[in-house]
Amino acid sequence: MKDSEITQRLTSPGFFQSPWEVYDYLRMEEPVFWCEPWSQWIITKHKDVSFILKNPSLFSSVGWEFRYLSQLPRDQREKLKNVYRHYETQVMSNSDAPEHTRLRKLIHRSFSPRVIEALRSQIEQLVENAFANLPKDKPFDWVSSFAYPFPATVIALLFGAPTEDKAKFEKWSTDIVSFIGSGSPQVDLALNLEQSLIEFREYLDSLISVRRLEPKDDLLSLMIEKSDDGDSLTQDELISTCITILFAGHETTANLLSILLLELFRNPNQWQLLLENPDLSASAVEEALRFNAPVQRIRRVAKEDIEIAGLTIKKGDSVMGFIGSANRDEDIFLDANSFNISRERSQNLSFGAGIHLCIGAALSRLESTIVLRELARLFPNSNLAPSFQEEYFENMTFRGVRSLKLILSA
Ligand code: HEM
Repeated sequence: MKDSEITQRLTSPGFFQSPWEVYDYLRMEEPVFWCEPWSQWIITKHKDVSFILKNPSLFSSVGWEFRYLSQLPRDQREKLKNVYRHYETQVMSNSDAPEHTRLRKLIHRSFSPRVIEALRSQIEQLVENAFANLPKDKPFDWVSSFAYPFPATVIALLFGAPTEDKAKFEKWSTDIVSFIGSGSPQVDLALNLEQSLIEFREYLDSLISVRRLEPKDDLLSLMIEKSDDGDSLTQDELISTCITILFAGHETTANLLSILLLELFRNPNQWQLLLENPDLSASAVEEALRFNAPVQRIRRVAKEDIEIAGLTIKKGDSVMGFIGSANRDEDIFLDANSFNISRERSQNLSFGAGIHLCIGAALSRLESTIVLRELARLFPNSNLAPSFQEEYFENMTFRGVRSLKLILSA
């Protein structure tokens, strides 16, 4: 394939619907590829994506957002005060050491295995209540009825916010994800994001102030606490971290909850295997993460000239590691293009790797495993509705289906 043809396939709407053939081709023929319209290097092999993730001294997480924003017209950028304020405040996902080390240390304890495990019974209760209200024996949309609202409710729980506010969380999350996930930034999406950030900042500001006066048994209270060495997050850091948690934790988990069921129902032998062995729930979640990764790409900026696969990436170049492709690399995964919930050990990169490894991975795994176990126990005869048509969002980073028509049957 000529470079222009690869670029054309990468940037066509069909790519979002099924990127797998392009990934297979790139891994085989052009594992390091310069995509001119995106001004980015595309990296597709597992060993190379893993190298980028594990070498933060060579590949920076800082500055990508400003490059992205700088593509907007100047007069429009001036209207984005809150967007700039958010990205100017360092948070874990867009910082390097030593700032990243300090921030991660302050937030890590809020996501410790003990804290997450303590949420189990509350999450189980939320699932039970939500399932009781889902339609049975007739088609309905799993995405809008469950997969999208459910992780928003869990994040509201983390913040100690009223669960009725979950619709606000959903809206704010959609606006962040839509803007940041376009191939190049769109003015209308940037203005939506600005408005959402004004509202969300105000909401968090008052929630945090209340929690400072009256700490509760939630993650937000833990994030406010001082660490042993007396350090703590500033108000701006706390607000931007909460925005990042919503951005990083809502849409991703929502997409996983849909992709998980889509792959299981599309592979009836795997669904049957799960019904016979409910203990495979956790590895089914892992396989869905590998097979159809909810975060397809991560972004970095090269800190110096680096050679990968014989090509030189120049200092300052933008780099995109394609996790979705790395997870299908035959050098690592036997029969990589088949969905198999009994894979022994998955080295998937779906939660990243190295210092930025997803801090919410345990929470997401817990939520998804509880949902799957309950669904298989209560509704073993469920399936995709005959009217279901698979259609993915056109988002560069997040992969998810717009709707998932299911029929739940006991
Ligand atoms: C299926 C669900 C999820 C997926 C696939 C996912 C994926 C990822 C990936 C790939 C990264 C690394 C990004 C990078 O290296 O640049 C990451 C980081 C992060 N994730 Fe997740 N995530 C998920 C759920 C969550 C949840 C539930 C939360 C919080 C409630 C969360 C919070 C974060 C944060 C704060 C970071 C930044 C960590 C750092 O930079 O040190 N994620 N996630």
